[in-house]
Amino acid sequence: MEPADDTLACALAEPPVPGAPVRLGICGLGLAGALMVRAASLATGIRLVAAADTREAPRAAFARDFGVPAYADLEHLCKDPDVEAVYVGTPHQFHAEHAVMAASHGKHVVIEKPMALTLADCDVILQAARTHGVQLLVGHTHAYDPAIRAMRRIIASGRMGRLHMLATLNYTDFLYRPRRAEELDTARGGGIVFNQLPHQLDILRTLGGGLLRSVRAGCAVLDAARPTEAAATAFLEFEDGTAASMVYSGADYFDSDELHGWAGEGGEPKQPRHGSARRARAGDAGANEGELRAERLAYGALQLRRELPPHLPHFGTTIATCEGGELKVSPGGLNLYDTDGAHSLALPRGSGYEGLFADLRQALRAGTRPRHDGHWGKAGTEAMLALLQSARERREIRVHCQVPLPAGA
Ligand SMILES: NC(=O)c1ccc[n+]([C@@H]2O[C@H](COP(=O)([O-])OP(=O)(O)OC[C@H]3O[C@@H](n4cnc5c(N)ncnc54)[C@H](O)[C@@H]3O)[C@@H](O)[C@H]2O)c1
Repeated sequence: MEPADDTLACALAEPPVPGAPVRLGICGLGLAGALMVRAASLATGIRLVAAADTREAPRAAFARDFGVPAYADLEHLCKDPDVEAVYVGTPHQFHAEHAVMAASHGKHVVIEKPMALTLADCDVILQAARTHGVQLLVGHTHAYDPAIRAMRRIIASGRMGRLHMLATLNYTDFLYRPRRAEELDTARGGGIVFNQLPHQLDILRTLGGGLLRSVRAGCAVLDAARPTEAAATAFLEFEDGTAASMVYSGADYFDSDELHGWAGEGGEPKQPRHGSARRARAGDAGANEGELRAERLAYGALQLRRELPPHLPHFGTTIATCEGGELKVSPGGLNLYDTDGAHSLALPRGSGYEGLFADLRQALRAGTRPRHDGHWGKAGTEAMLALLQSARERREIRVHCQVPLPAGA
């Protein structure tokens, strides 16, 4: 494949953000917290100044690695004057309570996806941020990945003509990783809809500009022993008529990294391992799965490499169809297909966290609206709930809380 014109790569580079590093406190040192700590510790514009977790082991590991306080509860973290912004990386059912506590102590808030499980909770968080005059960001999601950001900028530049259609597809082992009981109960935020589809919805809303009109979906529960959605497919329509489809399965049978050169979600090289998560769960039979999860998937227990992996992070195959050509995410960046053939666009190695950190720094140092602010997060929750409702009622659902991406994003 021919390389794409290099002026394109230069035009896609994001400008550096001026100002002092943001002093970040981490609430929740589980899987998401460990990924955030790794990303923040590699970023130049972020300084890790404290953490909180109810579990002793990840707290001790964090305090040892960074030489800063690790508290047993969020309130102490919020009272720490060195903390400027709090990252809420606790399970979703605590997001509203923890975001409100951080905001009420005057801390800016970065909240994991999904922002909350109900629109009412999203409103409570938005109100707390308004009342206390703090910035609110929702992420990380894979919509911040370098390839998705570059794709968005090419679409928005108009050089490929008008966008008409988007497709995103991902097959993983998600449902068969170790889980707590509530993670297998849709009513309590379990299953792929609340946990994995926020990434796909954010990717599609980012590429399509944000203004969704309606959602039609079908979901599948595949295993009585894990009685929550394992797979889903949806058709989304944007206000301007752009059509989008998404497919996700966390059943641990097919792995769509096979279609992506065996580059894993984080960009690491990967060996095929179909069914291995199911076999591991069968091997753990009799053990407390929630305890195993807490012990294995936490800061200190997870062996996360510090250097950037050889490929870019991704969330499956994503393709945009424009009048003048098509764009596809690749392990090294993007592939562009037009009447001249296929071209590869290599992007600098990096992660989605860099986009989130750039937004955080811009918001705190220059007062700009983050790409994924609280209204964007609420729109994501609305789309996720509409998807579940559509599957349940077998009909198209109109959405009403959608927001456009900020100008220039
Ligand atoms: N962006 C991503 O790529 C990504 C990846 C994984 C999870 N997530 C999101 O992050 C959130 C957490 O998921 P996870 O998989 O890390 O869960 P987890 O269970 O692995 O980690 C949660 C951590 O929060 C701690 N905790 C619970 N209650 C607390 C409290 N009151 N105060 C302080 N700490 C408390 C737990 O001890 C645990 O260490 C979820 O909303 C999930 O959707 C995002």
